[in-house]
Amino acid sequence: MKIPAMPDMVQSLLPAIEAELQHALALLDAPLTLRFHEMLTYHMGWSGEGAGPEAQGKRIRPLLVLLTAASCGGDWRTALPAAAAVELVHNFSLVHDDIQDQSALRRGRETVWKKWGSAHAINAGDALFILAHRSLLGLRGQVPAETAMKAGQTLNDACLALTGGQFMDLSYETRTDLSIEADYWPMIAGKTAALLAACTQIGAITGGADESRQEAYRSYGHFLGIAFQVQDDYLGIWGDSALTGKSTQSDLATGKKSFPVLYGLSKQGEFARRLTNGQVQPEEVSQLAALLAEEGAQLFTQETVDRMTDLAYQSLRAAGPQGDTGQALFWLTDYLLNRQA
Ligand code: IPE
Ligand code: IPE
Ligand code: MG
Ligand code: MG
Repeated sequence: MKIPAMPDMVQSLLPAIEAELQHALALLDAPLTLRFHEMLTYHMGWSGEGAGPEAQGKRIRPLLVLLTAASCGGDWRTALPAAAAVELVHNFSLVHDDIQDQSALRRGRETVWKKWGSAHAINAGDALFILAHRSLLGLRGQVPAETAMKAGQTLNDACLALTGGQFMDLSYETRTDLSIEADYWPMIAGKTAALLAACTQIGAITGGADESRQEAYRSYGHFLGIAFQVQDDYLGIWGDSALTGKSTQSDLATGKKSFPVLYGLSKQGEFARRLTNGQVQPEEVSQLAALLAEEGAQLFTQETVDRMTDLAYQSLRAAGPQGDTGQALFWLTDYLLNRQA
C-alpha cells in the first residue's frame, strides 16, 4: 500500500521485505503445487486481478522488526528472516480470520476463501503459518543460537495469544453481557497487540538490546497494537470502505463486539436496546452507525486511540531508539494513529 509521506529510509526497506517474503513462498513454486503457490501469491498481493502495492497491505509488522533492530544499533539485514516471519504469521491470521468473520473483501479484493473455498483457504493459511516459522529459522548463523531461540519463543507465544484472542472475539459475537475493561482489552491484547509486541521485542532481541530495553520496546509494540486495533474498530464502523478495502457492514451485522459497540452497550440507550434485540440486518447498519456516533461512541473511540498512542510514545521514548530508524518509529506511530486504511 502507498503510505503518504513515508521517509525514504523506510521506503527503501520495503523491497528487501518483499524479496524475503517471495523467497519464503518459493518453496511451493513446484509443478504439482503451482495453483497452491498462486493462492498464496494472490493473498500476498503479487498475483491475480488487482495485484500491486494496494493489495499487499501496509507491511507494518516487518517494518517494526527492522526499524527496531536498527534503532538499537543492530543491522536491519540480520533481522530480515524475522521480519518475513512476522508478516507471514500476520497473513496466515488474515486468511483464517476472513473465513471466521465471513469477510468477502480484504485489501480491496476478494478473499481467499471467497475465491477458492474455505477448505483451500484453511490450507493456504496453514502454509503461511509454517512458512513463517521456517523463515524465522533463517536467523540461525546470523545471530547466536540463543538469540534465535528467544526470537522463536517470542513468536510462538504471540501466535498462541493470537488464537486465544480470536477465540474471545468469536465467542463474544453472540453475547451482549461484555465490558471494555474485563472483556475487550484482553481480547485485543491477544488477537492484535500480541503480534505487534512480538515484532518490536524480536527487533530488539536481534538488534542486541539488553533485557530492560527489550521490555520497553515490547511495551511500545503492545500499546501501538492496542491503539491500532481500536482505530481499526473505528474504521470498521465509520471508515470509508474504498480506503480500508474492507466492508463497513460486517462488524455491526455479524455482532462483533468492537470498541464502539461495547461503549454503545454500556450507555444502555437506544443503540443498546436495538443490539440486544436480535441480529442486525445489513440495511440497518448505516442508521445504527449514526445512532452510535450520536450516543458519543465516535468521539470516545478517537479519544481512546489518542490515549493508547500516548502510552505507546511513552514506552518508545523509554526504549531510547537511535538514529534515523529511531525517528522513523515515531513517524510510523503517528501515521498509524491517523490512518484511514
Ligand atoms: C489488519 O491489519 C488486521 C488487524 C490486526 C486490525 P493491518 O491493517 O495491518 O493489515 P494489512 O496487512 O495492512 O492489510
Ligand atoms: C484482527 O481481526 C486480528 C486478526 C486477524 C488476528 P479483525 O477481524 O478485527 O480485523 P479485520 O477488520 O478483519 O482486518
Ligand atoms: Mg476477526
Ligand atoms: Mg476480520
